[in-house]
Amino acid sequence: VRDRHSVRAEPRRRQDRLTELVSFDAEAPFTNEPDTDFSLARNRSWVEQSLRDHASAGAADEPAVSVSVSVTVTDVDLAVARARAALLEWSQTTTEHRRRVLTSVAEVMARRRGRSIAVMAAEGGKTVGESDPEVSEGIDFARYYAASTRELDRMASAGTRFVPLGVVVVASPWNFPYAIPAGGVLAALAAGNTVVLKPAPETVRTARVLVEQCWAGGVPPEVLQLVPCGDDDAGRRLVTSPDVAAVVLTGSWDTAQLFLGWKPQLRLHAETSGKNAMVITETADLDGAIKDLVRSAFGHAGQKCSAASLAIVEAAVYDDPAFHERLRDAVTTLRVGPASDPATVVGPLVAPPRGPLADALRTLQPGERWLVEPRELGPTTWTPGVKTGVAPGSSFHLTECFGPVLGVMRATDLAHAVELQNAPAYGLTGGIWSLDDSEVDYWLEHVEVGNAYVNRHTTGAVVQRQPFGGWKRSSVGRGVKAGGPGYVLSLGRCLDGPDVA
Ligand code: ALA
Repeated sequence: VRDRHSVRAEPRRRQDRLTELVSFDAEAPFTNEPDTDFSLARNRSWVEQSLRDHASAGAADEPAVSVSVSVTVTDVDLAVARARAALLEWSQTTTEHRRRVLTSVAEVMARRRGRSIAVMAAEGGKTVGESDPEVSEGIDFARYYAASTRELDRMASAGTRFVPLGVVVVASPWNFPYAIPAGGVLAALAAGNTVVLKPAPETVRTARVLVEQCWAGGVPPEVLQLVPCGDDDAGRRLVTSPDVAAVVLTGSWDTAQLFLGWKPQLRLHAETSGKNAMVITETADLDGAIKDLVRSAFGHAGQKCSAASLAIVEAAVYDDPAFHERLRDAVTTLRVGPASDPATVVGPLVAPPRGPLADALRTLQPGERWLVEPRELGPTTWTPGVKTGVAPGSSFHLTECFGPVLGVMRATDLAHAVELQNAPAYGLTGGIWSLDDSEVDYWLEHVEVGNAYVNRHTTGAVVQRQPFGGWKRSSVGRGVKAGGPGYVLSLGRCLDGPDVA
């Protein structure tokens, strides 16, 4: 569906508030929202206009609503108390009511697509090619979790009483500043919880745009609140509040450990870090493999938890100079630039590189050499880099870097490739390019990841089709996959039967 071309109708320019919930077909099956077809000139004009209209969307001086990025402990206490007071009424709404609200939210999200794209570009450096699908994913989450409430109806008709967990904190990352908070928030609301959203400090305005869309769709303001705070005193107060029943985190393994250090008995649902690889075997179609590898490695400048940071290439391909030449050509022709230019493929980094990313961009370890040397065009703008000869057990092999640098490793055979792929402590995504079914079967039996992709890029999981979640150190707590069956159920509990998720 994501690759299907579609015509996007001229969007309304004014962001009209929905005064009534939209009508909806309760029996309609879930379908994925198509992305905008930018091969059409009118859609290109539309997005350029949207970027201009909302150019100030990420700027600190935008007057519409002010956002404090440093709330106090007292603010946190007030927000949690408000969420707690709203819980009974929201949890007792019918599933039909919540379906209607989520369907209305999806409608608002679709109408305000241009604004969402613009704020992601201005604030988070997301290119149009990345932010447009992110809006589609947000809409998918709204509709999918609306449909998921039917699972609650089936349980009720079987006599099982389902209750929400309570006040849920959704702690969301800057790299998917719209779709990931949308998923956590809307699933929690669908289950009947009230929600406090704690977005990453880097992308608070995108979170605000999302929350306003939820309110405009009919979510009461006390049922969903935005509380921007870092992992400081206010953040700690929020996570450890006795009135918070659970935290849904998408972030680093270290952040998950920090939260658990603050509150060891915390009910935490976390999708955490990754060090992801794509295996390319001798039987791969290199046209497809290189295209998918480059997309997986350099989309959003490599700043996705799902990004392929390593290519693990079977010897016959690795030793062929033509492979290196083709990969180099594919990478050096990527267009690098500002997110405000819709033609940009590799946009800016969210912050100047530091730690493992700075090391990976600036230095080579023994055995490594640059196939494509990254260049610093500005503090946050880097051209993509590719290093070959990455050694087993080296820091680049095992450490998450989160940026526009790809390492290439040589594997003697498929078994060796899988061994190298499984070596990092994380297990989020993994890919294989192979045209041999027995190789694919072997790989699927042995790879240790949450999301395994065959002959496809490793990013951009599609709601319902590819429920998303990690394995090993890419997941902490309740390991139910987002955008899949059981996710809404995992945000509640059954009073007189086994918990389903
Ligand atoms: N769900 C996001 C992806 O698949 C992280 O790329």
